[in-house]
Formats: sequence, C-alpha cells, structure tokens
Amino acid sequence: MLFRSMDSFVSEISSQHIWETQEWEALKAAVPSIEKLHLRQLLQDENRFNEFSIEHDNIILDYTRQRITPEIKELLVKLAKRAQLQEKINAMMSGVKLNITENRAVLHTALRAKEDEHIFVDGHDVVPDVYAVRRHIKEFSEAVRSGKLVGVTGKKLTTVISIGIGGSYLGPEFVYEALRNDPVGHDKAEGRQLLFVANVDPLDMARNIEHIDPEHTLVVIVSKTFTTAETMLNARSLRNWLLERLAGKASPEAIIAHHMCAVSTNIEAVTQFGIDKENIFAFWDWVGGRYSVCSAVGLLPLSLQYSYEVMSDFLNGAHDIDVHFRTAPIDKNIPAMLGLLGVWNATFLQYPCRALLPYAQPLVRFAAHIQQVDMESNGKRVAMDGTPLPFPSGEVDFGEPGTNGQHSFYQLIHQGRVVPCDFIGFCESQAPLKGPGEAVSNHDELMSNFFAQPDALACGKSMADLEAEGVPERLRPHKLFSGNRPSSSLLFPKLTAYTCGQLLAIYEHRTAVEGFVWGLCSFDQWGVELGKVLAKNVRRQFHDSREEGDRKSVV
Ligand code: F6P
Repeated sequence: MLFRSMDSFVSEISSQHIWETQEWEALKAAVPSIEKLHLRQLLQDENRFNEFSIEHDNIILDYTRQRITPEIKELLVKLAKRAQLQEKINAMMSGVKLNITENRAVLHTALRAKEDEHIFVDGHDVVPDVYAVRRHIKEFSEAVRSGKLVGVTGKKLTTVISIGIGGSYLGPEFVYEALRNDPVGHDKAEGRQLLFVANVDPLDMARNIEHIDPEHTLVVIVSKTFTTAETMLNARSLRNWLLERLAGKASPEAIIAHHMCAVSTNIEAVTQFGIDKENIFAFWDWVGGRYSVCSAVGLLPLSLQYSYEVMSDFLNGAHDIDVHFRTAPIDKNIPAMLGLLGVWNATFLQYPCRALLPYAQPLVRFAAHIQQVDMESNGKRVAMDGTPLPFPSGEVDFGEPGTNGQHSFYQLIHQGRVVPCDFIGFCESQAPLKGPGEAVSNHDELMSNFFAQPDALACGKSMADLEAEGVPERLRPHKLFSGNRPSSSLLFPKLTAYTCGQLLAIYEHRTAVEGFVWGLCSFDQWGVELGKVLAKNVRRQFHDSREEGDRKSVV
C-alpha cells in the first residue's frame, strides 16, 4: 500500500459514522425480535452449535448462549463489513498509522511476526529491529540464567524484580502466573524467582524486597516513556536500596551496571538514569503500552524466569491467532465474532458490564490485564473524527477465576443485573490431581462448574420448575432464576506457553474489533492524563508545605 493511499484510507475511515448506516439501523430494529425469545427456546434448536461455534487449532468458541438468531448474526457480519473491519485489520497489521491522535502505527502483531516477514513503518522494515532485540534478550537471559553474567560480588542473579505499571506490568504478570505451574515453565524456573513492583505505595516495594538478597538481584525497569511518576520513583528507590545494601563492595557505577537493566523506547532517559548501554532493551512507539507484553516489556523478565525458548512458544501462539484473525472469514473468526458479540451486547442490548471467568487458577491475573487492554482502549467519548459518540462505548470488564467468583459475585449475575460472561476453560490441567475414593478428579470438578454455569445463566429456573420441586410458595420468588443471560465459552486443550499466547492475542484483537466497529481510536489513552497533571500540583503543594514545616521546626 502506498503512503498516499494509506493517508486517504485513514481519512476515509475517520469520517464514517457507523451509527448513521443502514446496517446499524437494521440491528436496532432486530432488538425487539430477540426480546421475545428466551435462550431456553433458542437452545432447543439442534443446529445451534453448528451455527454458533468456531473451531480453530483445537480451540472451540461456543456462542450458542448469546442472545442472537442466525438473522442477527448475519446483520452483525454486515455491520462489520460496513465498518470495513477486514480493511482495518489489514491496515493495522501492515503499519498504517491508525492511532491518529498520536500519529502512530499499531503494530504489536509485528512483535510476533516470522523473521522473513516485512512490515513497514514510514518506509522502514521493523521486523529486523524486532529480531535484533529478540536476539539481545536471548543472549542476555541465557547468560544470566547460566551464571555467565553475575552480580557485582560474583553471585548468580536468581531474583528478578520487574518495576513498571499499567501495560508495563499487567501483561507480564498475567503470563508469569499462567506459566508458573506449566510443567515446562516450572522446570525452567527452578531456583529462580520473578517479582513485580507496580504501585507507588511503598508497601508494594517493602513486601517484595523483604526477603531478597541484593547480591542475587537483577532489577528490570520497564517503562515505555521512562517518565511515569510511579515507576521512576520506584526505580530510584530500588537503585538506592541496591547502592546502600551493596555499599563498599563495588563502585556505584559497577553496582548499577551489574544489577539494573531497562526496557524502554526512551533510550536517552535510560542512559541518563545511569544504566549500561548493554543493559537497555528497546521497543518502539508503534507498540501501545497495553499491547506490549510481546515486546521486551514481557519478553525480558519472562525469558529470565522461564527461558527465551518458552517465551518463543508464547510468541508463536500469539502469531498463530494473528494469522487466523487476518485470514479467517468474519463468521469463522474467533476474535472478530467475540468483538461483534461485544458490540451487540453493549450497544444494542445495552448491557454495560462484562465478566471474564477463567476456570483456571493460573489465569488469576488475566482479568486485570484485559481490564486495561479493553477499558483503556475503548472507553472513549468521541469517534475518530472527534464527533461525540451517541452511545456509551466500551464495557466495564471484571472477573475472577472460577470457582472463586461463584462464591463471590455470581449471585448478582444470576439474579441481579444481566452481565454477559466469557467462560474460559481447559480440557487438561497443568497439575492433574485425583484423590483416592474421589468420584472425579479435581480438574473434572472444576470443569463441571465451567459447563454448568453457562446453562444456569441461559436457562434459569422457572416458577413451574420450583413448583414441581415442591418449593414453598413464599420462597419461590426468591429461588426463581429468570435465565436468558448471555455467555460465550472458550475451550482450549491445555494452558501452555503457546496457548497462553493464543489467548492473549484473541483478547487483544477482540478489543480492536469493537473499536473498529464503533469507529473510535482504540489506541490512545488521553483519559489518563488529567489525573496525572492534578497529582503533579498536589505533589508540589506537599513538597512546599513539608519544606515550610521543616524550616519552622529548625527556627
Ligand atoms: O496509565 C497510563 C499509561 O500511559 C498506560 O497506558 C501505560 O501502560 C502506563 O501508563 C505505563 O506507562 P510507561 O510504560 O510509559 O511507564
């Protein structure tokens, strides 16, 4: 694609308002038809699974329990076409500057591209740059893991503390947790630990450094901008901690060179901080913070913990979904259909929330990561051209691993508000367990819930059911489940580095699809700025009044 045509493509998609199209109107008109149908009735159709499921590489998306009919699905696909979804996917993956307010390409998919691919930004092929950093990470992580690179006192660097916040923290922590009990990851992490410090609350740091030995510690500062207030204060505090605790054992320069490294796009600021050139791992402005887990942001700390080899599997999994996303027709495309269902539920059926329910304890931090990916991307007030959106965009995402969530907020989602749910499950456990005399394995127990909950939400329990069960009349209203509550289920074979990469890419792309259809800019985040500026003013006031207090006490 030539630059001239890319520019005209961006201005063309920026000026479209999807809510003014016939396809939008057709979906609005379809809402009353679905209001008359209960999921209990819809699920009677034996063909429903064929119609409303997608299989890709042994991953199954079952969306039979969404409040749609074949006609509505067709209208959603038409809406996607009208929104030029395929063209936007192609544009994103080929380096078009879709982040129009920051004039940046959106190329997290280039981070997991194959080495023989060519992807251009401003006429420059970015794939060789990606592979140069990947090679640097491979060499560095292997040297640290093998003990070739050691701390300033000659001891092995077995503890890594990753300092970063938002996109420079949530994705890496999600993947770290996901692979902790994967047999391969577990094996590779033998004798090592990876810790995260994100919050500027000194307690986050205190809790992490309580039991660690600075002689064995490598600090990784992760910050795209290298200006984020929380991260920089934590970085300075940890630098002081290292210098104090290792004082007298080597010069400050040597301590920093042996114990600190950084991941950033702002190489100048990293150098000024005192970090050795060899210890800087670059990434680029075309990687959004919340989409950066596949860059050095995640790749460096996670390769130190689990090995570069394991993390390459993770990237390959994400790449597999990138190819699926770009090539599968919309109705056979997992991220595309998930995104369209999000638009249907949030905008047309007007459900403002969405729950992410992984039936897998290793995905304990997945919902936290997707909260940022989705809410920072699609919680916007205007379309690409600045016109206020005539509907609220984005969803309120939240979640917990099942079955813990069941004993917490499921009451509300069964009998209170309608919250569309995504159930995520795995056929096999990372750590199978079956006690003697137990009817089923622990994983089967977990998965019984994974399969039962979507049906409970969809079908509910009627007054007639309660009467047949002999429930006293006065209790029947309390025990009634209205049902008709939509959900999708995603079933994977097993949670490995590869499938973890697939899962990540599915959800990154789901968010992009929703933003593409709504016609907003999913890749900037101006909404986080105002609070930061106000905090600066308060910080100044704190400083001035404390100084004043100190002066008075000296006098
Ligand atoms: O909270 C705003 C934000 O800019 C996020 O988008 C980003 O992930 C986070 O701060 C951290 O930014 P940085 O990596 O530049 O420190």
